[in-house]
Amino acid sequence: MTPTTAIEIRGLTKSYGDQHVLDGVDLTVPAGTIYAILGSNGAGKTTTIRILATLLQADSGTARVAGHDIKDDPMRLRESISLTGQFAAVDKILTGRENLTRVADLRHLPDADELAQQMLTRLDPVDVG
Ligand SMILES: Nc1ncnc2c1ncn2[C@@H]1O[C@H](COP(=O)(O)OP(=O)(O)O)[C@@H](O)[C@H]1O
Ligand SMILES: [Mg+2]
Repeated sequence: MTPTTAIEIRGLTKSYGDQHVLDGVDLTVPAGTIYAILGSNGAGKTTTIRILATLLQADSGTARVAGHDIKDDPMRLRESISLTGQFAAVDKILTGRENLTRVADLRHLPDADELAQQMLTRLDPVDVG
């Protein structure tokens, strides 16, 4: 069953030493939506994303992504998400279509060309080559 909530965070905390970076974060992101987290440098955006991607452990609180708990179900959670770096999100030598196909290949998904086409149809960019 597809979860209706993409991200559910309750009371998330994280400190580095005596620096309290996340102090009880609550957040609900419905499935099928595009959501941006904005904030000044050092606000805790990357820390939050790393916790949601199971790359970093929270001190307390709960979070579920695509229905999978970050603590109880990290493997299934990782299978359900993609995460790209700020500066390595796309290869500028490749076209947009080739970038999509490459990511599908890296994830070992069958029929990468078809998946790329589905994504292009859904997002409808102007010109991807
Ligand atoms: N591994 C770490 N060790 C110590 N402090 C860290 C570490 N990672 C991030 N911080 C600190 O935590 C705060 C939040 O960082 P970060 O989550 O990267 O913020 P943002 O992505 O919003 O700029 C910053 O003050 C940063 O210096
Ligand atoms: Mg950051």
